[in-house]
Amino acid sequence: MKKTLALALAVVMSLGLLAGCGGGNNSTGGGSSAGGSQPSGGSSVTASIPDAPEGGGTVGVCIYKFDDAFMTTYRNALTEILKGKGYQVTTVDGNNDQSKQNEQINTFITQGVDALIINPCMTSAADSIIATVKAANIPTVLINREPTADQMAAYDRLVYVGCDAAQSGTFQGELILETPNKGDINGDGKVSYIMIQGDPENIDAQLRTEYSVGALKDAGIEVEQLDLQRGDWDREKGQTICANDLAQFGDQIEVVFCNNDDMAIGALQSIQAAGRKVNEDIYLVGVDALDAALNEVMNGNMTGTVLNDAVGQATEAVNQMELLLGGATYSAGNQSVYVDYVKVTPDNASEFVK
Ligand code: GAL
Repeated sequence: MKKTLALALAVVMSLGLLAGCGGGNNSTGGGSSAGGSQPSGGSSVTASIPDAPEGGGTVGVCIYKFDDAFMTTYRNALTEILKGKGYQVTTVDGNNDQSKQNEQINTFITQGVDALIINPCMTSAADSIIATVKAANIPTVLINREPTADQMAAYDRLVYVGCDAAQSGTFQGELILETPNKGDINGDGKVSYIMIQGDPENIDAQLRTEYSVGALKDAGIEVEQLDLQRGDWDREKGQTICANDLAQFGDQIEVVFCNNDDMAIGALQSIQAAGRKVNEDIYLVGVDALDAALNEVMNGNMTGTVLNDAVGQATEAVNQMELLLGGATYSAGNQSVYVDYVKVTPDNASEFVK
C-alpha cells in the first residue's frame, strides 16, 4: 500500500520538527530520551513512502531468550503496545542461541513482515544481522544490545533503542556513596566488594561493572575487588556466586554489586542464609527495578536498584519502528536512541511498582 502524499508530507514535517528539537534531553516520542540521537531529519527522509502499512501491519519480534526476567517485562510491554496499535505481532524465543535466532529472522523475512524488532542473542552477531535485514530492505529496530555506530552505519533503515549502560553503573556507585559510611562498613579506609556480572559479551555488563566502581574511585574512595564472576543475568547463578564468596571472604565483603536485579535477588538469598543484614553489615545493589527488587528495596533488604525502563524503551522502540515505516532513514552516528535510567532508593521505590 502506498501512503498518500499528504501523509508523506506529514512525516517529513514531523521529522523536521524532531530534527528542530536539537540536542539535549529531548525525546523522539513516547519514551523519555536521555539526550538520544534523532532520526536524521527532513533532508534524509525519502519522499516516496515504501509500503508503510495503513492501520497496522505485521511485526516480527525476536527476543534473545524468554527466560530472562527483565526481557520478559520488556517483551510483554512491547507486545501490548504493538497490539494496542493494531499491529499483528509474532514474538519468538531465541533460546540464547544466535544460529536459531538467525533462522527466525530469515523466516520473518520470507513471511514478508513489515518491520522487525530484534534483541540480538549475541552482540557479536550484529554485523550479520544488519547485513541480513539490509539485503531484505526491512525496517529494523534493534533493542537491548547495542552494536557499534560503525556497524549500524551499514544500513540507514535501522535504529537502536536502549539505555546508556554507563549511566546505570554510575547510579549503582552513587547508591553506595549515599550510604552513611560510603560503603566502608568496617572503617578500614577502603570499600571491599564482589562483582556479580551479567553476560560479559554484553555491553551492559561491561559498562555497569566499570562505571559502578568508577563512581567510587571518582569520589576518591579506595576500592578492593575481592571477586568478579559472571552470573549471566541469572538468579540461581547470582545466589551460588554470592554464597561461595561469602564462604570464602566472609565479613571482608562490604558491597555486593550485581549487574542486574535477578542476580541481586539470588545474592540476597545467600546473604540472608549467611546471617548477614543488608544496609547494616553489607550493601547490595542491582539494576532493572523488577517488582521483586523494588519490594526488597522498600523492605531494606536491598540498598537500591536502578530503573531499566522497559515500558519507556518498548514505547520508544515502537515509535522508532513507525518512523521507519513512515520512510525515515538514519545517518551514520545518529542511530542510537536512549531512554534514561532512574536511581531507585527506599524513598522513591514505591513510585515504580507496576
Ligand atoms: C539488561 C538487563 C538484564 C538482562 C539483559 C539482557 O539490560 O539489565 O537484566 O535482561 O539486559 O541482555
